[in-house]
Amino acid sequence: MLNEQLRHMLQAMPKAELHIHIEGSLEPELIFELAQRNGVSLPYASVEALRQAYAFTDLQSFLDIYYAGASVLLTEQDFYDMTMAYLRRAAADNVRHAEIFFDPQTHTARGVPFQTVIDGIWRACQDGPISATLIMCFLRHLSEEEAIATLEEALPFRDKIIGVGLDSSEVGHPPEKFARVFERARNLGLHLVAHAGEEGPPAYIESALDVLNVERIDHGVRCLEDADLTARLVREQMALTVCPLSNIKLRVFDVMGDSNLRRLLDAGLVATVNSDDPAYFGGYINDNYLAAFDALPLDVHHARQLAKNSFAAAFLEPERKRAWLAEVDAFFDAAQAA
Ligand code: ADE
Ligand code: ZN
Repeated sequence: MLNEQLRHMLQAMPKAELHIHIEGSLEPELIFELAQRNGVSLPYASVEALRQAYAFTDLQSFLDIYYAGASVLLTEQDFYDMTMAYLRRAAADNVRHAEIFFDPQTHTARGVPFQTVIDGIWRACQDGPISATLIMCFLRHLSEEEAIATLEEALPFRDKIIGVGLDSSEVGHPPEKFARVFERARNLGLHLVAHAGEEGPPAYIESALDVLNVERIDHGVRCLEDADLTARLVREQMALTVCPLSNIKLRVFDVMGDSNLRRLLDAGLVATVNSDDPAYFGGYINDNYLAAFDALPLDVHHARQLAKNSFAAAFLEPERKRAWLAEVDAFFDAAQAA
């Protein structure tokens, strides 16, 4: 349960965000603004009507609207404005460092050049108020050949990308479908992550580890259905980027009280809290912390653990990681001494 002191600590504590789709930070107001700027017509009469459509029954029902929303992004400035809006919002939540997903195929399929996408997002990351790095995701409902072509297209911008990920419709598109493109990315020295065990079974988490060699699992909440897999994730200290509000909106769990975040932590898993698609799921990272702590038996020790996990699981130079971990400890030591 959440008291005022814990609420304040969750908001003020330094944190990293490791699972945020930049296209999922596009607020309805900005969608309408960009539609007008670019002369794109939307099948919604108003911002309110668009927001009303955000009633999802599962992952696919969300993705259909999410891809439609992204259709207003055409110019480098559009990608810049979207990214800058997220970075400012994240800074207000005391996010120190964000590892941002982007979906180039959503844009190149509409004729937007890869360079337009990455230049806009990258420039905002350079100008923005917090540390930010980029992870390029492949859309798993498309073919591996298309993912390979996207990786090739990204090569001139290799220095702007720290890793690759795998997102979109999970069930029916297991990680092993992307074995070759992840192997190629690994040979390029890129970090590897994949969505697994969000709607898909624990076996997808296992193949993300064994076939793709990922270094973090995005979501992964269904791991608890398999005791051997859970033990392995603990043994390997494999981080899970959990997104509590997303899990409720996409009906992975019925209500926040059913979220398994506390059980993941109790099992010794390196769970982190993230926003996934904050414009669509009812809140940014602090809203996720607050909703989870409000509904679950989580206390200040869990808050410290989650903040530390977020930096421990980040793809950061050891020295920067150590500095931020020390900042978290100093924050909690000072707050608890007060
Ligand atoms: N793309 C954006 N958000 C996603 C999610 N939660 N799962 C899969 N693909 C996504
Ligand atoms: Zn996601």
